[in-house]
Amino acid sequence: MTGIDTPLTRLLGIRRPILLAGMAGGPTTPELVAAVSRAGGLGVFGLAGMNAAATHDAVSLAIAHSDDAPVGVNVLISPAVPRPGADPAAMDAVLAPMRAQMGLPHPPPPGAAPATPLELVEAALDAGARVVATGLGDPAVVAGAAHDAGAPLIVMVSTVDDARRAVSAGADVVVAQGAEAGGHRSNFEVPPDHEVPLVGTAALVRQVVHAVDVPVVAAGGIMDGPGLAAALALGASGVQLGTALLVAEEAGVPAGWRDRLRHARDDESVITRALSGRPARGLPNALTEALEVPGAMGWPQQNAVAADIRRAAAAAGDADHMSLWAGQAAGLAGPDRPAAQIIDEITDGAIEAMRMLGDLAG
Ligand SMILES: Cc1cc2nc3c(=O)[nH]c(=O)nc-3n(C[C@H](O)[C@H](O)[C@H](O)COP(=O)(O)O)c2cc1C
Repeated sequence: MTGIDTPLTRLLGIRRPILLAGMAGGPTTPELVAAVSRAGGLGVFGLAGMNAAATHDAVSLAIAHSDDAPVGVNVLISPAVPRPGADPAAMDAVLAPMRAQMGLPHPPPPGAAPATPLELVEAALDAGARVVATGLGDPAVVAGAAHDAGAPLIVMVSTVDDARRAVSAGADVVVAQGAEAGGHRSNFEVPPDHEVPLVGTAALVRQVVHAVDVPVVAAGGIMDGPGLAAALALGASGVQLGTALLVAEEAGVPAGWRDRLRHARDDESVITRALSGRPARGLPNALTEALEVPGAMGWPQQNAVAADIRRAAAAAGDADHMSLWAGQAAGLAGPDRPAAQIIDEITDGAIEAMRMLGDLAG
């Protein structure tokens, strides 16, 4: 297997500086996590929304198929974000007809309370996870558990200030998440009533590299070998891929979402609070448009309000009513193929790009 050696690969004990973004809510199946780890990257589960027992089972299953390569887990810290003018009745008026049309009960049956980040991390470590990653908040609540188990702590940030806070809280690796990234913005604090700062990947990675003395990983808009080579040139020790691996055959992503991704234009994704109450980048659809109304609530209430609709739509392959998280470079995703092939293509493409750049000198 062709490898690329960086401070990140040495710290994590992997051959290739490519992390699968833990993507909660379905994409990161045990099969995808195991396939990325077997291919020399780090497979990471997105655990947010799961319970401890399901976490233990899923992590154990991935480890059983990872050929002894390390497997990581990701939790969302995500403190509450209130929203001025929140009005549950306004949301009800939007959702009741949608549920009627989809044949779902209104109101939906109450769901179980989600496990805390610490409960999820403890269950994952008990099952044998060897790396802990966090997004969307100060990681202090899980840092002790990770370090007591000897697991490196990877913390995703979207600003230089949060990168410094992450390291003070115990981060062994910082993921610099640029504005291009699909999914939720990873700012530790989100203002209730104005936009989050949006720093592009190149600008953020370079400044985070200067600000902290732990390995930095670039995230946001990286889809191929030249993207990995560019991240390494900026001083990153590796990349974290979300969107690029949504088209892996092993990913838990319905066909309609895959099709929207590979046909997405560069300017098509939007950052919206409509689906969860926190800003996140995805492709617009009927659901985001319907929920973008006065009275929409904050995090976590807004995330729960249409969860039954998103789940039913994902099960039915209905791309109009599920969340379609996607980064700005989604249009480069290409056809469905095995995760190992995507990791091989990115590694080989980066090595080729680095050689080509070397040839330019002199
Ligand atoms: C479908 C999807 C789900 C995501 N879920 C999570 C998550 O559960 N935890 C997390 O830390 N980041 C999550 N992210 C964000 C990624 O960690 C990462 O920042 C982003 O995917 C990088 O940009 P890219 O999508 O252009 O590769 C998610 C991203 C996507 C696309």
